Amino acid sequence: MSTANVNRVVDPATQTVLPEKVYPGVDDGHHAPPALPKGFEAQADELITHYPVSKRSASMPLLHLWQETFGYISPAGIDWIAAKLGLQPINILELVTFYPMFRQHPAGKIQIKVCRTLSCALGGGYALCDYFREKCKTGEPDAHGLALSPDGKYSVEFVECLAACGTAPVIMINDDFYENVTKSRADELLLKYT
Ligand code: FES
Repeated sequence: MSTANVNRVVDPATQTVLPEKVYPGVDDGHHAPPALPKGFEAQADELITHYPVSKRSASMPLLHLWQETFGYISPAGIDWIAAKLGLQPINILELVTFYPMFRQHPAGKIQIKVCRTLSCALGGGYALCDYFREKCKTGEPDAHGLALSPDGKYSVEFVECLAACGTAPVIMINDDFYENVTKSRADELLLKYT
């Protein structure tokens, strides 16, 4: 797993050094324990201080921190968080499997999510998703519905309603939201995120 420095961030309000983001690219199939990037454990410890009554309440913030940093929640991540909070791994795994926003497998650095619910399906969401897969050379989706490019740069997947049904088709690229996306607009967006 690469530990290259990516997007190191200093919070201007607190001067806290937030963890460097470390994305694994394509899955090596082994989910090896990652080297924690600089700032990660300090940030985890800081989050835990927000829950003085019960460290267990820090489970969700730590899961978000792990996924923000590594791109998905690996078995090693589950073990690490459980140990950090004095819990059993099953206590963390049940959260990961319950909440759909948590990933158990790698996604791309550039994550393209295409809405497939009714308005977007009728508005061309399926054809648009096919177009992104073709342009990003991802091939077909895996068993988790995620199509990942061979270099791990792009992932393309369907999501359910993004609550902008009147402006279908709607997509997200990483945390950014786009409406009325045509193929030509898709081309522009891919250039922006290249
Ligand atoms: S159906 Fe796509 S945003 Fe609601």
